[in-house]
Amino acid sequence: MHWPLLLAFTSVVAPSAHALLRFPCSQLVTQRFDPLVTPGEVSPHVHQIVGGNAFNLTMDPNNDLPNMATCTTCRFQEDKSNYWTAVMYFKHPNGSYTRVPQIPNHFTGSPNGGMTVYYIQPPNLEPVTAFRKGFRMITGNPMLRSYDKIDPDSAEAYAVTFRCWESTAPFDPSNMSPPGVGNYDTVHLPNKKCPGGIRANIFFPSCWDGVNLDSPDHKSHVAFMTGRVDRNTGLILRSGTCPSTHPVRIPLLFYEVYWDTRPFNDMWPTDGSQPFVLSMGDPTGYGHHGDYVFGWEGDSLQRAMNTCTDIGGVPEGCRELTLVTDAQINSCTQRPQVNEIVEGSYLEKLPGCNPIQAGPASATMVANCDAVSTTGFRSDPTSVNAPEVTASPAIITAAPAH
Ligand SMILES: *[C@@H]1O[C@H](CO)[C@@H](O)[C@H](O)[C@H]1NC(C)=O
Ligand SMILES: *[C@@H]1O[C@H](CO)[C@@H](O)[C@H](O)[C@H]1NC(C)=O
Repeated sequence: MHWPLLLAFTSVVAPSAHALLRFPCSQLVTQRFDPLVTPGEVSPHVHQIVGGNAFNLTMDPNNDLPNMATCTTCRFQEDKSNYWTAVMYFKHPNGSYTRVPQIPNHFTGSPNGGMTVYYIQPPNLEPVTAFRKGFRMITGNPMLRSYDKIDPDSAEAYAVTFRCWESTAPFDPSNMSPPGVGNYDTVHLPNKKCPGGIRANIFFPSCWDGVNLDSPDHKSHVAFMTGRVDRNTGLILRSGTCPSTHPVRIPLLFYEVYWDTRPFNDMWPTDGSQPFVLSMGDPTGYGHHGDYVFGWEGDSLQRAMNTCTDIGGVPEGCRELTLVTDAQINSCTQRPQVNEIVEGSYLEKLPGCNPIQAGPASATMVANCDAVSTTGFRSDPTSVNAPEVTASPAIITAAPAH
């Protein structure tokens, strides 16, 4: 039974993967936090964060996340990692923005929003080494607005893509290709209406330098496998060689984010222009990105990668790990600590004052955002449970592109 399921998810015609975990993580919180790129400061744009509830404005690599977190929004109790991405807004013809809801992916249960996370040991390759405590990384670049300078056959060109679903049915022809390839996936946001919604596909590099848990750009301690990407199969079960500088194979980490764009399809502007925009003011999609902070208990991820070979990646098939119910993952939440409205009503501008920057030149960072007078972060611990509006505006320091 798992073959057809995997085909639905990935449609990869390949021998069995050595290991595959595929599981939902519901929304923990949505706010302008990014402890990797802008620790200690309100971040320039909104993220949706999932995972353990030890997530914070600053996350020291020495933090013992499995012990600090009391719950997780992911399917396995052992996983107190954090995962985050940008969120999507619909720009109404009158200029107001509405957040586009994230809904459950196929065969993931009933998580509240969030994303689907995969950890993959690709077939026919040496076994992966699980991430170490303190490991973190980023994929993608929020400032990008075109792939003009990226080799179209390179892994970077396949790392972040969008699938335009013709239908919500899992076995629809528009869902039968591996992520990032085929007739329904594009490297930019779809420029037409998608009757079944849009899914983002986000791959991280799967080779590590074996030494550094992080790097100044949060990227250079990891690398994609070398060589050209097969246009028919993409990255998901790709075989290949790690570069000599990054010889250690780590699990291939992959996110899927399902946006329910359907309610907006009858509200497109009359000129037919694409009305969706990512939270960093990106109407192209080239700037989409993903962030990861490892936080699995002990050697639980390594044990799972050694033994959980279910071809469909079904969580129940992984006996090494402890399942958490939908009710439990959906009740694990954090209250936003930034006092601004980022969803649930019409917004006059994007949080963080991000202008729409369509490129093709790289976007420029907004140096400060005094216009958002109700935005602020109180370092007072009581603010975690009782956020208040601060008197002074948040100071958004320019952050390096990541
Ligand atoms: C813009 O349009 C939406 C949807 O019709 C409406 O609800 C909202 O109030 C409008 N915003 C402004 C500022 O007029
Ligand atoms: C976040 O960090 C603040 C300041 O260090 C701390 O008081 C608070 O308890 C932390 N919150 C969580 C959920 O760990």
